[in-house]
Amino acid sequence: MIKKIAHIAIAVPSVDQAAGFYEEKLGLRVSGRERVPQRRVTVGFIQIGETKVELVQPDGPDAPVAKFLSERGPGLHHICFEVDDIEAEFQRLKDAGVRIVDPEPQSGAGGTRAFFIHPKSTGGVLIELSQKMRDND
Ligand code: CO
Repeated sequence: MIKKIAHIAIAVPSVDQAAGFYEEKLGLRVSGRERVPQRRVTVGFIQIGETKVELVQPDGPDAPVAKFLSERGPGLHHICFEVDDIEAEFQRLKDAGVRIVDPEPQSGAGGTRAFFIHPKSTGGVLIELSQKMRDND
């Protein structure tokens, strides 16, 4: 079951550089950077009420997000829905013939497990489903 929008992710060349706008101009706070080696990205989170904006920076020129940046430039990258049972959602969608990017749910930022649904199956939007595995934020 989908519970809420966990975050909206924006691809940026540099979290630190992007943070300048969100902090100085919008008065938001970009919390501690976290490397996600499984995705080869570094992320920074901005808590906004019940949800977050995730700034996603590639860890190198051959990281998947680097390809996105070079083809489409910085901007909206994916939307993430929080679910209560990631394994069940993965199986349910797979059985329904939905195209999933990951072979199985992966460890994500902030102690989550998550997988991505391919934009070809969603009408053009990269959608992440994630489950919080610990209650730290
Ligand atoms: Co995400």
